[in-house]
Amino acid sequence: MSNIEQTLSIIKPDAVERNLENEIKEMFKNDGFSILKEKKIQIEKSEAENFYKVHETKPFYNDLCEYLSSGPIVVMVLEKKNAVLGNRELMGATDPKNAEDGTIRKKYGISIDKNSVHGSDSVENAKIEIDFFFKD
Ligand code: CMP
Repeated sequence: MSNIEQTLSIIKPDAVERNLENEIKEMFKNDGFSILKEKKIQIEKSEAENFYKVHETKPFYNDLCEYLSSGPIVVMVLEKKNAVLGNRELMGATDPKNAEDGTIRKKYGISIDKNSVHGSDSVENAKIEIDFFFKD
């Protein structure tokens, strides 16, 4: 039985702005991920609100949506065995100051908001998030 999965990854505005796109992609590739699809886009605040709808009752929701729509982002479909969990491990804790050495957020994250990357939190949400950005 194969548990090859796909997950959605976003390189957030703080990392794109600092030209970290290639370094972060290398970290994914070195960890065994294939980048199946990718595009650099800038989204409207209303699209960010839809994307992060699960957080709509949180106090940080408005700032989060403002932020994700504030500059270019890179959205990618990543694939490998157990990709969802593997991506979360490679990203590290949401707040970079709690992230472990060797993780993307430890290396590049600035703050809990400017934490450089987003990754799907479950296989179910990965499907929804991939469709959100890549439904053809
Ligand atoms: P992300 O994985 O993109 O999912 C939601 C984002 O909300 C999260 O990364 C953080 O950047 C941001 N955020 C801001 N404040 C908080 C908080 N208190 N708890 C969790 N996420 C937060």
